[in-house]
Amino acid sequence: MIQTTVNGQPRQLDVDPATPILWVVRETLGMTGTKFGCGIAQCGACTVHLDGQPVRSCSTPVSEADGKAITTIEGLAGGDGKLHPLQQAWIDAQVPQCGYCQSGQLMSAAALLRDTPRPSDDQIDAAMAGNICRCGTYGRIRKAIKAAAGIEPATTGAEG
Ligand code: FES
Ligand code: FES
Repeated sequence: MIQTTVNGQPRQLDVDPATPILWVVRETLGMTGTKFGCGIAQCGACTVHLDGQPVRSCSTPVSEADGKAITTIEGLAGGDGKLHPLQQAWIDAQVPQCGYCQSGQLMSAAALLRDTPRPSDDQIDAAMAGNICRCGTYGRIRKAIKAAAGIEPATTGAEG
């Protein structure tokens, strides 16, 4: 039995400890905001937080979550339903194209801003380097992170 907390809710999970967190979240708990991309820890689409640190849930067994807290995209907003500043900035900057990578992008960005509230371009690039976007929204992602950090306003445009 795995004892964990998911988005603030204590959970006892009767699953194979080797099961990737991704499948526990999606299949056992029915939270489908976290996406399956490559399955081999290369794309970042499956990023969740484990005790606040971004991890690749496709390649992290749920045994590693025993006694720890998992946060998924469903838990990024405040308990009052107010969007995380990054989620609002993502909307304002019209970041998503197909959207598939975006929950993972947001989870990586949230970890960045928690640790580095006003990141430089280099710090943004380093933190987000492991999150691949096939639609090429990298420019808008950087703008939205800066907007959420209060570095510059969120603007939209066709620059990607
Ligand atoms: S699905 Fe996990 S890193 Fe690609
Ligand atoms: S928005 Fe389509 S893969 Fe990133």
